[in-house]
Amino acid sequence: MGSEKYDKLAIVTGANGGVGFGICQRLLESEGKDLTLVMACRNPARANKAREALLNQFPFANIDIELVDVGCTKSVLSFSTAIKRRYSHVNYLFCNAGILSSSGINWKTLFYLVFTDPVGLMERADVTVQPVGEINAEGMGKVFAANAFGHYVMIRELENLLSKSGDGRVIWTSSITACSSSFSIDDWQGIKSQEPYESSKWACDMIAIASSERFQRENNPITSFTTSPGVVASDIGGLPAWICTARIFIHYFMRLCGVSSQNVTAYNGAIAEVYAALEPLSRLSFLNRYNSLSNRWGKAFVGAKSIVDYDRVTAEKLIEKCELAYQAFKKKNADSTFTTAPTN
Ligand SMILES: NC(=O)c1ccc[n+]([C@@H]2O[C@H](COP(=O)([O-])OP(=O)(O)OC[C@H]3O[C@@H](n4cnc5c(N)ncnc54)[C@H](OP(=O)(O)O)[C@@H]3O)[C@@H](O)[C@H]2O)c1
Repeated sequence: MGSEKYDKLAIVTGANGGVGFGICQRLLESEGKDLTLVMACRNPARANKAREALLNQFPFANIDIELVDVGCTKSVLSFSTAIKRRYSHVNYLFCNAGILSSSGINWKTLFYLVFTDPVGLMERADVTVQPVGEINAEGMGKVFAANAFGHYVMIRELENLLSKSGDGRVIWTSSITACSSSFSIDDWQGIKSQEPYESSKWACDMIAIASSERFQRENNPITSFTTSPGVVASDIGGLPAWICTARIFIHYFMRLCGVSSQNVTAYNGAIAEVYAALEPLSRLSFLNRYNSLSNRWGKAFVGAKSIVDYDRVTAEKLIEKCELAYQAFKKKNADSTFTTAPTN
């Protein structure tokens, strides 16, 4: 048993970099020694390096690492088993890890947007050419699996532990780019979509809200919230280094001009995620998306925006599809564990 005695437990997926690292910093700043932080990462070297960096900044911190590939259901199931063995309750589950697959830049769109919609250019992924039809090793839409489904499975597996905390919070890192028009229930895994990233982020929003509605119906003390980190100059999208550097100057310039989505740093981008975890429930609504914003001088603040185009019927259909896939994977996993288990 790792952390036998602890007050609060937070799990952050994708904690080793970008927004996930910012979430860890803000959590440790607010909760101090009372918190045990589980960094849920796929790469042990990167996770250890990030843990060291956090311990340098917060020497008192209790930080564990658990390995997981959120884009692989088998890995999420064994991660969840390890968490259930090790901890008695979970207070905060940050569904943050995510990918934006890219096969290049659409220069024509980029130049067009420079003149017609420079703010949109810096807020959305319109100029990123996203590969169509990417499938992971388990036969699921690759971006959907990592951004949405892996976390759906994690929530389902850890529901009992979240419930035991008495006020379990699930916080999704969605995006301001998430919108209903990018999503089709007939292509719920975004396999045929030209925008699998945006489609998966809208799926995250729907799962977040529909799950909260279910928890409420079942009188289960868990609430799931969707949030957006705004624009953070992170590694997502795998852009060439020179573009990443150049765009940082443009982000700062736009922020100075008053474009509040330009958070630039992961620390600023994580303010809404941690707000949704720590604010009293009475001051929050799961029908909002909580957005991280910064003023022109770089002071971060939170803005709430109602998700007006939330469509309950489509969300319920999506949950049904995720649940069927989850149960099928779980059964397959149990069968393979059974057949490969030692017989003596
Ligand atoms: N940056 C932005 O402007 C922006 C805007 C809107 C939304 N977001 C969202 O913010 C979240 C964090 O992104 P970021 O900007 O911080 O990007 P990032 O710097 O690339 O960080 C992504 C994190 O997710 C992890 N990850 C990716 N795939 C994973 C997998 N299959 N299993 C486990 N971990 C995995 C990465 O681990 P590795 O280091 O091992 O790759 C990394 O720790 C994402 O959900 C993203 O969609 C970001």
